[in-house]
Amino acid sequence: MKIVMLGAPGAGKGTQAKMISEKYGIPHISTGDIFRANIKENTDLGKKAKEYMDKGLLVPDELVVDLVVDRLAQDDAKTGYVLDGFPRTIPQAEALDEALAKIGEKLDYAIDVDVPDENIINRMSGRRACVSCGGTYHIKYNPTKKEGICDACGGELVLRDDDKPETVKKRLNVYHEQTQPLIDYYTKAGILKEVDGTVDLEAVFQAITAILG
Ligand code: AP5
Ligand code: MG
Repeated sequence: MKIVMLGAPGAGKGTQAKMISEKYGIPHISTGDIFRANIKENTDLGKKAKEYMDKGLLVPDELVVDLVVDRLAQDDAKTGYVLDGFPRTIPQAEALDEALAKIGEKLDYAIDVDVPDENIINRMSGRRACVSCGGTYHIKYNPTKKEGICDACGGELVLRDDDKPETVKKRLNVYHEQTQPLIDYYTKAGILKEVDGTVDLEAVFQAITAILG
């Protein structure tokens, strides 16, 4: 099963992708997580990506596409995957389709988690992310058992650098301009599925599993 998650920043793509990954036994591949891991390790890619991410801008397509295509060629991705945060532009979507077509494959579902902008800023200020494993929580909607400590790995929880309200507003603008057109793109491809992302996270997951079977 090959799935793409679509949705605004903070819509819950990462939260749902993790749940899908666990239920269906396919890897969760998040380009945002890959960049944040590179920033933490201070790699060349991390240094380049940080310049854009801190401003709420997209990292240039050429830094993203090969990275994902290489990741999809790894053994654990043979039976499928859930992509979170990629593709994010039409050229990225086209590059992905081309890379898949070359090996006789195609995507099965593009799931759009729909949340209006008004709900997003509030969600982001309460988000906490694990510095070690990337696990995502919310102080009100999805709290950890112990405050400030990741349930999954015991790592430290922090507010992401790009979750300041000004940067979130910029990310929302970038989303509407560059990423929202993918909804049309995947509608035309006949694989778009829409779920309401404003309900609680278990209810969102139920709607998704009703689609995936
Ligand atoms: P990325 O890490 O992908 O960030 P994003 O798309 O902005 O999305 P988020 O991770 O902020 O939100 P999410 O939808 O995963 O929501 P979450 O589940 O955490 O990308 C970051 C940056 O990297 C980009 O700005 C860009 O610079 C760069 N980048 C990455 N990929 C790129 C690409 N392909 N091309 C170019 N640049 C790229 O949920 C949010 C919060 O809400 C959490 O606290 C969660 O607990 C809570 N929550 C979730 N669901 C619910 C619910 N149903 N009810 C209540 N609370 C909920
Ligand atoms: Mg995410």
